[in-house]
Amino acid sequence: MRSVLVANAKGGVGKTTTATTLAGAFAAQGARVALADADRQRSSLRWLSLRPAGEAAIETLDWSRASEIGEAPKGLDWLVIDAPGSLKGARAETLAAEADLIVTPLAPSPIDLRATLKFLSQLDEIKRIRKGKAVVHLTVMRARKGRALDALEAALAEAGRAPVARIADRAAYVDLAGRGLGAFDRATRAHAALRAEWAPLLAKLA
Ligand SMILES: Nc1ncnc2c1ncn2[C@@H]1O[C@H](COP(=O)(O)OP(=O)(O)OP(=O)(O)O)[C@@H](O)[C@H]1O
Ligand SMILES: [Mg+2]
Repeated sequence: MRSVLVANAKGGVGKTTTATTLAGAFAAQGARVALADADRQRSSLRWLSLRPAGEAAIETLDWSRASEIGEAPKGLDWLVIDAPGSLKGARAETLAAEADLIVTPLAPSPIDLRATLKFLSQLDEIKRIRKGKAVVHLTVMRARKGRALDALEAALAEAGRAPVARIADRAAYVDLAGRGLGAFDRATRAHAALRAEWAPLLAKLA
């Protein structure tokens, strides 16, 4: 089993959108996938509850209580973990201990940039991550061509933290989220442009 933790200390950056999209992508490949929701807001659990019958199966794990973290069935190919916002300290370490890969989304804004760089330096204090046992990938969410994106890309490059994928700001992501769907589902075959945005990240996770 490989596990991906989607995390950032900043709220509203696109963690749940990323976790649900990745779980859907792995499921569409025929993998056995579970989506663990470690956020008390339970957004991923809600998304799973909305998922139409007939779409590729994603197993549900409620990790919203700290005591449940780490509970997963045997035989999974992929475990995707949706982390809560304001993740730090012991909780960050507990969740990072479950992950082979960490995906950290951020939007093109100076506030997200500052919070994310701080979060990344906190992650670097976790031994597993410092030793390269869990690899961190950044993704730009709600990317829109323009000065804000250029400034973010320049700052991340300077910090040696270039993002691996850019996901555009699209109403389709909001619509899909509200229907328990992701860009890789059967019902969204028309969304080739959305799937193309995730390809570079999926290639890193493969
Ligand atoms: N690429 C995108 N284009 C347009 N809207 C997006 C995109 N990514 C996320 N959103 C929307 O932005 C909002 C926040 O995204 P999401 O819930 O994924 O963030 P989050 O980091 O999980 O938030 P929280 O910290 O509250 O858990 C949602 O309404 C979501 O549908
Ligand atoms: Mg969320």
